[in-house]
Amino acid sequence: MKRVITYGTFDLLHYGHINLLKRAKEKGDYLIVGLSTDEFNTYNKGKKTYFSFNERKKLLEAVRYVDLVIPEYSWNQKRDDILKYHCDIFVMGDDWRGEFDFLFDICEVEYLERTPEISTTKIKVDLGRIQND
Ligand code: CTP
Repeated sequence: MKRVITYGTFDLLHYGHINLLKRAKEKGDYLIVGLSTDEFNTYNKGKKTYFSFNERKKLLEAVRYVDLVIPEYSWNQKRDDILKYHCDIFVMGDDWRGEFDFLFDICEVEYLERTPEISTTKIKVDLGRIQND
């Protein structure tokens, strides 16, 4: 069985996320998502999420492409996760291109093209505009 792993915040789950998860799952048979915890978002990524970790986790678990959600609490856990869960492929959107090439010695590393014109940030900005109209 081929196992794939990816990481992210996945706040306000949108079709760009779904496209990424679908294509990640198609690379193998079992997809693990490392979901950024609220603390990791706040203190390391500088992101304040709308949905809490538990809410984001429930949403991801309801997605048919996702088999397992684990917490991402540090930048440095990827190597341990890949070995612990016997992952064959590490996948990220191409906004991260090159950033994780150092994992090449333990698994395949692939960057998938982002879906254009959608992001959590854009949704937040656009909804703010609608409120102010
Ligand atoms: N992603 C994607 N296409 C998009 C948006 C996100 O493929 N339009 C991918 C990212 O490349 C990443 C994963 O989805 O691999 C999770 O991304 P995340 O940063 O949680 O979502 P964004 O919408 O990019 O959030 P933000 O605006 O807060 O950066």
